[in-house]
Amino acid sequence: MSALEDLRRKIVLCKKCDLGSIGSRVVPGEGSVYPQIMIVGEAPGVNEEKVGRPFVGRGGKLLRNSLEKFGIRNVYITNVVKHRPPKNRKPKKEEISACSAFLEFEINAIKPRVILALGRTASEYFGVKSRLSEANGKVFIVNGIKVIACYHPAAVLRNVNLRDEFNRAIKQAKSFI
Ligand code: URA
Repeated sequence: MSALEDLRRKIVLCKKCDLGSIGSRVVPGEGSVYPQIMIVGEAPGVNEEKVGRPFVGRGGKLLRNSLEKFGIRNVYITNVVKHRPPKNRKPKKEEISACSAFLEFEINAIKPRVILALGRTASEYFGVKSRLSEANGKVFIVNGIKVIACYHPAAVLRNVNLRDEFNRAIKQAKSFI
């Protein structure tokens, strides 16, 4: 069994925080194990929970269209938190820290050169302190990996004016491939 398959089993069984205990369906990361970039979101939403795959809703479609536009086809997509928080609320600090070993494991196994951190939760996970209005498209070197902060696609769906900025961050990621 590959290390990532083994991780998937561990994630399914995880009860380290309340999200694992309320019986919601787990959404592990997926994609190429040799990706051009790794994409990290916040947590699965209702659509992702239904099918057990990350970024399959409207936000995912927007994301995948932009990746396609810049010719980025080979990705690994995951989330900071692997269970959907009830009512799509933001994950709590304790949920993020309970889940962080899984993301750490994914990063160590895949060793991406570039990570696109979608939204505030993912950007903060990588130590980005400034608001996304300032950080979007900027590169932060974290343990030798280029982490690019990027608006979350859900924010772009709420405010179409962010679309150019969102694409700018993805173009930045592409420039490092
Ligand atoms: N939003 C996220 O942050 N991740 C998903 O997988 C879906 C929506």
